[in-house]
Amino acid sequence: MKAVIEVSDLYKLYRVGESVVRALDGLDFKIYEGEFCAIVGTSGSGKSTLLNMLAGLEKPTKGEVIIAGSHIEKLSEDQLVTFRRDNVGFIFQSFHLMGTMNAMENVALPLTFRRISKAKRLKKAEEMLDLVNLRKHKNHMPNQMSGGQQQRVGVARALVVDPKIIFADEPTGNLDSHTSQEVMELMQKVVREQKKTLVMVTHDDHLASYADRIFHIIDGKIVKIDDNRDAEKEKIAADTKNQGEGKEDLEHE
Ligand SMILES: Nc1ncnc2c1ncn2[C@@H]1O[C@H](COP(=O)(O)OP(=O)(O)OP(=O)(O)O)[C@@H](O)[C@H]1O
Ligand SMILES: [Mg+2]
Repeated sequence: MKAVIEVSDLYKLYRVGESVVRALDGLDFKIYEGEFCAIVGTSGSGKSTLLNMLAGLEKPTKGEVIIAGSHIEKLSEDQLVTFRRDNVGFIFQSFHLMGTMNAMENVALPLTFRRISKAKRLKKAEEMLDLVNLRKHKNHMPNQMSGGQQQRVGVARALVVDPKIIFADEPTGNLDSHTSQEVMELMQKVVREQKKTLVMVTHDDHLASYADRIFHIIDGKIVKIDDNRDAEKEKIAADTKNQGEGKEDLEHE
């Protein structure tokens, strides 16, 4: 497996008056191509700080963040803008859609500063809306869509530039639990089909359970990493074993 994100010895300290907040307190981990990882922790544990560091939105106090082979802690602001444009998609808690643009125009927006004709941009946006089952709503304005539909537009917009990595900070934070599950299932499906790496921050254990791996963060430290794929494998193994044993019982009768 190829690592797309490599973090080593990462620290972020904030000075607030006389005191120092250790928002990230020595992190080391890797995230591999095609993985869906959730970062889970309570409020103030350092989730958003970590995501900002991975996306190159803030500089670490110390340590390395290597994304797709680039040391992003060493890039200049201009280089970071280009880096993000070419490699990264974002999904926000509050959707961040443009109220004066319809769904298709919103999805096409990240393509604006690329040398692609408007017709092609809209066509690509339409394909992405198809992927999130919103083709019929392509001409709807954000205020003519439900929260879940708006976030599906947000997912389509994150995918339109075909980024290697997608970052999502509490992507279902403004949705009810049923709609949250629908959006999570959609993200899980799209990430698998499109072979993207998704890093999602949440404080909700249930939503985190949709991920392949769950990173638990407490006071700026990763205290545990759960692999859901191991649990899945164990379940399949147990089911197979039970079936096998069931068969033996029948044979003895
Ligand atoms: N710009 C800043 N200046 C000072 N302290 C900060 C700053 N940004 C974050 N912090 C502190 O760093 C710690 C981690 O904050 P962070 O925003 O990463 O938490 P979080 O896990 O995302 O929380 P939430 O679930 O509430 O969004 C907190 O103690 C916070 O007060
Ligand atoms: Mg946060």
